[in-house]
Amino acid sequence: MSLLPRIIQLLVLVALSSATRRSPEEARLIAERVLESVPLVDGHNDLAMNIRNKAAGQLANVDLSQNLTNHPLWVGCGNCHTDIPRLRAGMVGAQFWSAFTGCTTQYRDAAQKTLDAIDIIKRFSQKHNNDFKFVTTAQGIWDAFNEGKIASLIGVEGGHSMDNRLAILRQFYDVGARYMTLNHVCNTPWCDTSNVDDPASGVLPNNNGLSDFGRIVLQEMNRLGMLIDLAHVSKAAQIQTFQVSRAPVIYSHSSAYALCDHHRNVHDDVLQLVKSSNSIVMVNFYTWYVTCSSTATIQDVADHVNHIANVAGFDHVGIGSDFDGIERVPEGLNDVSFYPDLFTLLALDPAWTEANLRKLAGENLIRVFTDVERVRDEMAAEGITPFEENIPVGDLGNNTACYGGY
Ligand SMILES: *[C@@H]1O[C@H](CO)[C@@H](O)[C@H](O)[C@H]1NC(C)=O
Ligand SMILES: *[C@@H]1O[C@H](CO)[C@@H](O)[C@H](O)[C@H]1NC(C)=O
Repeated sequence: MSLLPRIIQLLVLVALSSATRRSPEEARLIAERVLESVPLVDGHNDLAMNIRNKAAGQLANVDLSQNLTNHPLWVGCGNCHTDIPRLRAGMVGAQFWSAFTGCTTQYRDAAQKTLDAIDIIKRFSQKHNNDFKFVTTAQGIWDAFNEGKIASLIGVEGGHSMDNRLAILRQFYDVGARYMTLNHVCNTPWCDTSNVDDPASGVLPNNNGLSDFGRIVLQEMNRLGMLIDLAHVSKAAQIQTFQVSRAPVIYSHSSAYALCDHHRNVHDDVLQLVKSSNSIVMVNFYTWYVTCSSTATIQDVADHVNHIANVAGFDHVGIGSDFDGIERVPEGLNDVSFYPDLFTLLALDPAWTEANLRKLAGENLIRVFTDVERVRDEMAAEGITPFEENIPVGDLGNNTACYGGY
């Protein structure tokens, strides 16, 4: 084709796409209709950490039923974005609350502190049970939504929390945790953190991905029906996980590496594995992962959503804000009340059909969760019993203080 017809073709395309762009009013209506018809599932929120760190874990100090924007404990807090009025304004349908304790607790009291966080999540879910419903299943998310409540779910952030013991992993599942992120910012003896992918971090690979015991951890998570979360996981371990896991996986709060080359973000070649395994990337709002800088806008976040939708498909993208865990938020996505604005912005583009917006909001995550439950049931039907391997003591190096043997 010569240049002139090509330019004409391009102009026609531009004219067509701008002509069919939805009006802001129509986009708003569509966004609200979508969020009223399917639960908006956010993959990661650190409210429990803030209640622990700023309110001594005591709900008496923070009434989540109030707009806490100007609460004395929350004022001056750069990373306090959540309360019930704002979740309601944000039309949130389900939240995976992070049960988090930092890497400094590894080999020390990580498991105990993780239980503290789980306890906080259960207490606030119970205290505000007109607004929250604590659930542990894919169907439970729908049940809560149909009752007009926000489904409360637990995700354990960091494999260090299980203290190298399958017993503790199983007990986390039994108290209701439904995902475990394999790492935070440290290696565990069995899985390398994404920090190893950044030479400047000073963290060196320990296993070049997963150790043999790490592969057992993944199989036990499959058997239990626990979602494997690859946020914070090294690229090598991500790729190995797609080979080991029988079930699809999630990235509970990660964005696109092609748009911001931070080690926490997902590379395009890995997005192909996300697609082929029927998995999901839930987009993080942290400015340092969105624009690789201290500022970003809601449009920048929409660009990440669009990139993942373009590369992996509309079936493989979701929302994982990381609110309450990030001290820098995009302009226009200031707290948990702003999600409808993001859906409105996306809905301006008619490629975001209502069906696609429903997938983004919650259907994709619920599909992955259902697949994880199905794999659990299949493994039970195959007679697969709990994995009984202990981590080889040699894998612990000098960190054997918490290793009592059995
Ligand atoms: C919460 O309070 C802040 C400060 O008064 C206000 O700007 C915001 O609109 C309120 N949000 C909701 C959802 O009530
Ligand atoms: C383990 O401890 C020994 C003895 O204290 C020390 O020489 C060695 O460097 C330590 N190894 C590591 C990996 O820290």
